[in-house]
Amino acid sequence: MTGLRYANKVALITGGSSGVGKGCAEEFVKAGADVVICSNREGEGAAAEAALQVLACEQGAGSASFVFCDVRRDQDLRALIDTTVSRYQRLDCLINNAGWHPPHKPIDDFSAHEFQELIGLNLISVFNACKFALPHLRRTGGNIINIASLVATIGQRHAVTYTATKGAVLSFTKALALDEAANGVRVNSVSPGNIYTPLWQEAIDAAPDPARCRADGEAAQVMARMGSPQEVGRLCVYLAADATFTTGVDHIISGGAELGYGRKTD
Ligand SMILES: NC(=O)c1ccc[n+]([C@@H]2O[C@H](COP(=O)([O-])OP(=O)(O)OC[C@H]3O[C@@H](n4cnc5c(N)ncnc54)[C@H](O)[C@@H]3O)[C@@H](O)[C@H]2O)c1
Repeated sequence: MTGLRYANKVALITGGSSGVGKGCAEEFVKAGADVVICSNREGEGAAAEAALQVLACEQGAGSASFVFCDVRRDQDLRALIDTTVSRYQRLDCLINNAGWHPPHKPIDDFSAHEFQELIGLNLISVFNACKFALPHLRRTGGNIINIASLVATIGQRHAVTYTATKGAVLSFTKALALDEAANGVRVNSVSPGNIYTPLWQEAIDAAPDPARCRADGEAAQVMARMGSPQEVGRLCVYLAADATFTTGVDHIISGGAELGYGRKTD
């Protein structure tokens, strides 16, 4: 079957119970992979595991399982990687996806403590997961995909803390790619623009005019829509399975949101 581009390989996806991570999990299962997802939301993780298992069953290939893990805790991440490797005896791809975008506000309203907490979730977790997974990835000639964001490159209003964490993920990815090339491990990042996920819905629900907020989200792309989690998942399968001469590169998937000059002031 031409679709099974990642058969007999193991992919671990943090935050695979929702949104972009779940879309990645679906596409890796469709590619025939054994997929482990983690989340700090027990019920959501179990529901995603069940849905992914149905998908694997229907196509007669691939598998999925859920492991509870709060990526902010080193010991949870260590246990996640140990569980994955003892379950499948190998690890081929790590996708660091778990993360959060706080509500928009100016720098004056962010505290240093909030910033530190976000660095823990969006950046230190990526460092730890890579560090714990690398001994296994070096054995398989595997690869890492870090989910950054388009706004790491182009900035975003009232989002200094989030944008800084994702910018750090981009730089971290390039530096790690340099170090790990000699060990046969590729390290890339993916920078989504607006992808319609529960996190985006959270922003819509919190907006004073939710319909306007969603319409603005869609109009930000030259393609006049948001992307889907599965579209990001297919890019990640390509990076893991096919992009064998690509390392240290950021891959923007944005529907053209960053193209062209436009009005930037009121
Ligand atoms: N949706 C977008 O438009 C967009 C754009 C650019 C980048 N991103 C990035 O994509 C990633 C996923 O975003 P999403 O929109 O799918 O969000 P989402 O809220 O739908 O899903 C986030 C996932 O991360 C998990 N998670 C959150 N905190 C965790 C923790 N402490 N421990 C373990 N798991 C945790 C959640 O359980 C969930 O599975 C994030 O890193 C986000 O910054 C999203």
